[in-house]
Amino acid sequence: MQRLTLTPLTLLLASCSGPLPRATSRDEQPPAAVMPGPHRGRDEPARLLRNAACVDCHEEAAAQWSASLHRAAFTDADFAAAYAHEPTRFCRGCHAPEAAPERDSPGAAAELGVACVTCHVPQGAALPADGVLAAMTITAGERSPASEAAPHPLVRDPAFTTTAACAACHDFDHPHAPGVPMQSTVREHQRSPAAGDGCGGCHMHDPPRGPVHHGFAASRDHERLRAALEIHALRPEAARILISLRPRAIGHAFPTGDMFRQVLVEATATDEQGQPLAGDQRILGKIYQDRIAGSSRGRILLEDTRLLPGAEAVVELDLSGAEALPVHWRVVYQRIDQEGPGRPARPFGEALLAAGVLPPTQE
Ligand code: HEC
Ligand code: HEC
Ligand code: HEC
Ligand code: HEC
Ligand code: HEC
Repeated sequence: MQRLTLTPLTLLLASCSGPLPRATSRDEQPPAAVMPGPHRGRDEPARLLRNAACVDCHEEAAAQWSASLHRAAFTDADFAAAYAHEPTRFCRGCHAPEAAPERDSPGAAAELGVACVTCHVPQGAALPADGVLAAMTITAGERSPASEAAPHPLVRDPAFTTTAACAACHDFDHPHAPGVPMQSTVREHQRSPAAGDGCGGCHMHDPPRGPVHHGFAASRDHERLRAALEIHALRPEAARILISLRPRAIGHAFPTGDMFRQVLVEATATDEQGQPLAGDQRILGKIYQDRIAGSSRGRILLEDTRLLPGAEAVVELDLSGAEALPVHWRVVYQRIDQEGPGRPARPFGEALLAAGVLPPTQE
């Protein structure tokens, strides 16, 4: 089996010049080729020109990427607001990976965000001149017709369809506190039922297993967010509300990614004039505390109440005082700006995942 899949790869590699990464089997760690990641230190204006050439030839991928958060990683308004409080080279390394991070005003390269070359021509990779890192699309005994049509060498590496292609940016520790995760999507994924699939299986194929898509739609796509969970509400007793949330196919905790994502689970009861009489809520998210009160110099993770992949969570809310009233409940996905000195937390945006009304019980 293994030998059969490697034969056509050897043929392909023979047509390229220069040192080449060794092909690895899917589960071999770490991958032999340099995979995409944050800026690795050199400013290369030539990469901007190369990116423009990718965009010219690959119109469909380019149109999808142009509308994506990867393209907007530095220019997106929500990032810009957070970055204004913390304009560091650490942020630029991932959000403007084509710009030299030491420059305060990173210019045109930053506007490319996570570009074609960021992923397909990783910095530090020993690719042949004009070489492009690509997925193993060839099956045993065949040569990909696309690879013959390509006017540039293709270095196909099975690791490119694994989490390795995303891990260096989507899983990292707090810069001032090694071991304290700032994002842990890959670590969460390793503990999920989807651990055997790459991130792209869900995020790059639309529909799943369909053609490759470079839109990376996630937090801004409310339909996708709603489809991610199965949500039910019950009122077993007059003052007791149970809301169950079961993740469908999510390959990590929910929410994942940025520190300031959360799911709000809420129930309220109002009188006939709409005045609130009773209410209760829970936050499913990462709860942080400032290491030094009132300063943003480091945070401690107090609690992680997010949904775990594959596990149902039941949230219990107490509506004492509203026994005889209908109860309105809702589950909302929220993106929030972090609070800081003199600056309260404020919502960047939210998506309603489910809502309903539970009448008073008949007892
Ligand atoms: C965030 C990383 C990332 C970015 C940015 C990115 N790609 Fe890709 N691209 C990938 C990965 C990973 C695959 C392989 C996906 C698979 O086969 O499941 C891929 C696949 C492709 C393919 C093969 C598609 C197919 O139908 O088999 C082309 C062509 C391509 N990318 C071109 C581009 C171009 C052009 C850009 C910029 C406009 C771009 N990519 C931006 C990661 C990226
Ligand atoms: C002169 C036009 C041209 C330029 C420039 C170009 N490509 Fe291609 N590329 C092609 C053609 C044609 C193919 C083969 C047909 C196909 O897959 O679209 C191809 C194939 C590919 C594939 C392999 C698709 C597969 O079969 O898995 C990837 C990935 C890719 N290109 C990415 C890039 C990236 C990234 C850049 C910029 C660094 C780039 N290309 C620059 C024309 C171009
Ligand atoms: C060079 C760093 C880098 C690499 C490599 C990278 N990403 Fe990203 N990705 C980012 C950044 C930065 C953002 C956030 C952009 C923003 O909103 O400001 C992002 C956003 C996303 C989003 C959208 C999240 C949302 O909230 O909607 C998805 C999905 C995603 N990436 C998946 C992937 C996958 C899958 C891969 C691997 C194939 C990958 N990324 C590789 C840096 C990277
Ligand atoms: C089994 C499918 C699946 C796999 C595998 C998967 N994801 Fe997701 N991911 C989802 C779903 C579903 C959502 C939420 C709905 C949506 O936005 O698509 C999501 C959301 C996200 C978000 C947006 C933040 C949030 O929670 O709203 C990011 C970032 C992300 N995924 C990154 C990754 C990375 C990186 C990997 C690989 C380590 C990965 N995902 C693997 C299904 C998957
Ligand atoms: C190691 C890579 C990395 C570094 C360093 C990094 N980020 Fe990010 N950031 C990401 C990724 C990946 C995402 C996408 C995950 C998601 O959407 O939940 C993201 C998402 C975000 C978002 C949400 C954007 C949106 O549009 O929804 C904000 C805000 C943000 N980062 C701010 C920052 C700031 C400010 C810094 C510097 C203090 C920083 N990031 C440093 C990788 C990084």
